[in-house]
Amino acid sequence: MKHFDGLTGNVYSSPGRINLIGEHTDYNGGFVFPGAVDCGIMAEMRANGTEDTVMAYAIDLKDRVDFKLSDPKGPKASWARYIYGIAKEMQKLGVPVKGFNIAFSGDVPLGAGMSSSAAMESCFAFGLNDIFGDNKVSLWDMALAGQATEHNYCGVNCGIMDQFASVFGQAGKLMRLDCRSREFEYFPFDPKGYKLVLLNSCVKHELAGSPYNDRRRSCENVVKAIAAKHPEGKFETLRDCTWEQLDEVRAEVGEEDYKRAHFVLGEKDRVLAVCDALVAGDYETVGKKMYETHEGLSKEYEVSCEELDFLNEVAKENGVTGSRIMGGGFGGCTINLVKDELYDKFIADARAKYRAKFNRDLKVYDVVIGDGARKLC
Ligand code: GLA
Repeated sequence: MKHFDGLTGNVYSSPGRINLIGEHTDYNGGFVFPGAVDCGIMAEMRANGTEDTVMAYAIDLKDRVDFKLSDPKGPKASWARYIYGIAKEMQKLGVPVKGFNIAFSGDVPLGAGMSSSAAMESCFAFGLNDIFGDNKVSLWDMALAGQATEHNYCGVNCGIMDQFASVFGQAGKLMRLDCRSREFEYFPFDPKGYKLVLLNSCVKHELAGSPYNDRRRSCENVVKAIAAKHPEGKFETLRDCTWEQLDEVRAEVGEEDYKRAHFVLGEKDRVLAVCDALVAGDYETVGKKMYETHEGLSKEYEVSCEELDFLNEVAKENGVTGSRIMGGGFGGCTINLVKDELYDKFIADARAKYRAKFNRDLKVYDVVIGDGARKLC
């Protein structure tokens, strides 16, 4: 590694993700439908022979940070906290992580809602498991260690979708994950005659300290209220709650929390409907559900913004089959299912209208579903 001592390490890579449908359902015990993408994070890593000194270099930022694993506070730089956090979480899983050098770079856009942070976590977890852990930690435990890194070191109370997708992804396949039981199924995804394309609003989505955690709290409030009314039942997440039970607590929890939970119950049903439609090759239904999700995320869950709503409207005007906010929201991308013959006109129109309205350029990414975390060499 030229940034440190010139010695060569091993190279690991891990992708970002898309999500066809199932937003804000993961921490509610519902279903998600993500796939890994063909861009992500790549890291060269090697043990450096010290007890607990980590020397880290973020190639794209040209930023170097050294820290000790035994320092209870850890580094300040937000990118370095992912390295510190995942190393601590891997230690909790019994991996005897010692000092190491790491240099990394990425081609997954940051703050675009494509899970660049999960890509880092799973890439680093994969490397530490290989270098110090004899690869004994399971894929699931590495995904959970990534999620715990967000909770414990980065201030985001996220669900498991992003880390799951980054670890388990397979080229050409989406995955339906039941976030309550953790069972999942691969679905080959090759919609003949359609393209999946992301439009990045370039409004930076930033979940740390954002209303993301408030949304989660609203959902938990509703579950608590329902559980108090039904001491006979077991209510852990909104997945365990029915529409009737939600209506029973409407006045008590207030309109805002009610709306949030109302979206989540609907979203759970939409993922299942999309899976059936995909199996039947019915892309019109898939698209219709995507628009419904956008509407719910915008009006009920309130995680959209003017730019994303605008892009959704432009998609509708262009006859795009399905379009919606993807990921946590508050900026980032829309995901669009568009017929091949409409693609060029749609992209040109969206670019022109977005520039005219917001004086800013859109970024466009054609989705290629790629493989999950792996060792490259
Ligand atoms: C972010 C979180 C995920 C999930 C999505 C919304 O990407 O990291 O856990 O909650 O938002 O679906």
